[in-house]
Amino acid sequence: MAAGRALGLGPLLLLSLWGASAPASLLRRLGEHVRRLRDSSSPGPNPGPAAAALPAEGWLQQALDPFNASDGRSFLQRYWVNDRHWASRDGPVFLHLGGEGSLGPGAVMRGHPAALAPAWGALVIGLEHRFYGLSIPAGGLDTAQLRFLSSRHALADVVSARLALSRLLNVSSSSPWVCFGGSYAGSLAAWARLKFPHLIFAAVASSAPVRAVLDFSAYNEVVSRSLTSTAIGGSPEVVLHGLGQKCLSFSRAETVAQLRVTEPQVSSVGDRQWLYQTCTEFGFYVTCEDPRCPFSQLPALPSQLELCEQVFGLSTSSVAQAVAQTNSYYGGQTPGSTQVLFVNGDADPWHVLSVTQALGPSVSALLIPSASHCLDMAPERPSDSPNLRLGRQSIFQQLRTWLRVDTRIRAGL
Ligand SMILES: *[C@@H]1O[C@H](CO)[C@@H](O)[C@H](O)[C@H]1NC(C)=O
Ligand SMILES: *[C@@H]1O[C@H](CO)[C@@H](O)[C@H](O)[C@H]1NC(C)=O
Repeated sequence: MAAGRALGLGPLLLLSLWGASAPASLLRRLGEHVRRLRDSSSPGPNPGPAAAALPAEGWLQQALDPFNASDGRSFLQRYWVNDRHWASRDGPVFLHLGGEGSLGPGAVMRGHPAALAPAWGALVIGLEHRFYGLSIPAGGLDTAQLRFLSSRHALADVVSARLALSRLLNVSSSSPWVCFGGSYAGSLAAWARLKFPHLIFAAVASSAPVRAVLDFSAYNEVVSRSLTSTAIGGSPEVVLHGLGQKCLSFSRAETVAQLRVTEPQVSSVGDRQWLYQTCTEFGFYVTCEDPRCPFSQLPALPSQLELCEQVFGLSTSSVAQAVAQTNSYYGGQTPGSTQVLFVNGDADPWHVLSVTQALGPSVSALLIPSASHCLDMAPERPSDSPNLRLGRQSIFQQLRTWLRVDTRIRAGL
């Protein structure tokens, strides 16, 4: 019971605690939390020697600037391959995209998509996001080089990785590639299908905040609601106690100084990179100016935007403009793609920026009651709620429908 409670509340706690010190890292912290959860959980009741073996890790040489053919610079991008379930070279490939943090072998071993692979004899590949984890270009994180960090660059990496890995692993050209991801990487999965439908067959986007927003005050409304919901084991007193302990651990000056460090080994957790992406693409600043908001210590929007200026020299108006551009480029909550399944938990504050209702017959949405951020991706546990189990079944069914149709088309039926 205790584990179930920690699972439900953990992400909310993490988000809230971190809020006062480095607001932009909220989503990244969540990603780390989800990854730790996946990597620390046991693989199953009877792992056996094969299950304990680590998947192959590799490095892809990628263009630093994929949009400028005369720029020959490159960097190494880390990936993992789990071919244990791969049944034939024209079987599907499940591509697990990394987001705003390091990725690990767990991405291809535990939770979904790995758990879904045996049913289709799928090859599972995990791809770390450029500028995070160990996939950081040699020049480090100085502001000039961060120009090459954006979701558009990340999607270009997905395309070249798909082509290079197909060749390297001898994947059939008719194999359907399905992208998976959670949180920001969930948005990337949906956008990979949206922008490259000839290369990416479908996508499962978990807790994907596809709408960029400068002032994300709705975040705290969901948190307040979730905190008082006994279904996820919430209680305001727990949470406020924790806030009192952790909130003031960093001063503003310390935070700014930390975020200005450009050597990857110091800021390898990715705060600086993610702050850059919030300043140049997404916003997502969690504010708390409503008197009913339980987290009165959160800084107001101008103070959060000031970080973009102090750390990267980016003006408030440029941040606002970038957020608007992101939504016009990807379509916000009506992306107009096909064959994307959006999965969310209604206890997760980020669901309000995602797609929670089907958009026509080929964009489906699943809103799992009382589930928190990316919970559907975590490995199955005996303590999983019936709603979560049902949710996972729906993901399975959706894939079955898509892949069955694909098999028939490929067989000419
Ligand atoms: C493209 O790369 C070349 C060679 O590095 C450089 O001189 C040029 O300024 C770049 N163009 C753009 C638009 O970045
Ligand atoms: C790739 O697969 C095809 C079809 O099975 C096979 O003929 C070919 O030899 C394979 N190539 C490599 C490099 O393994």
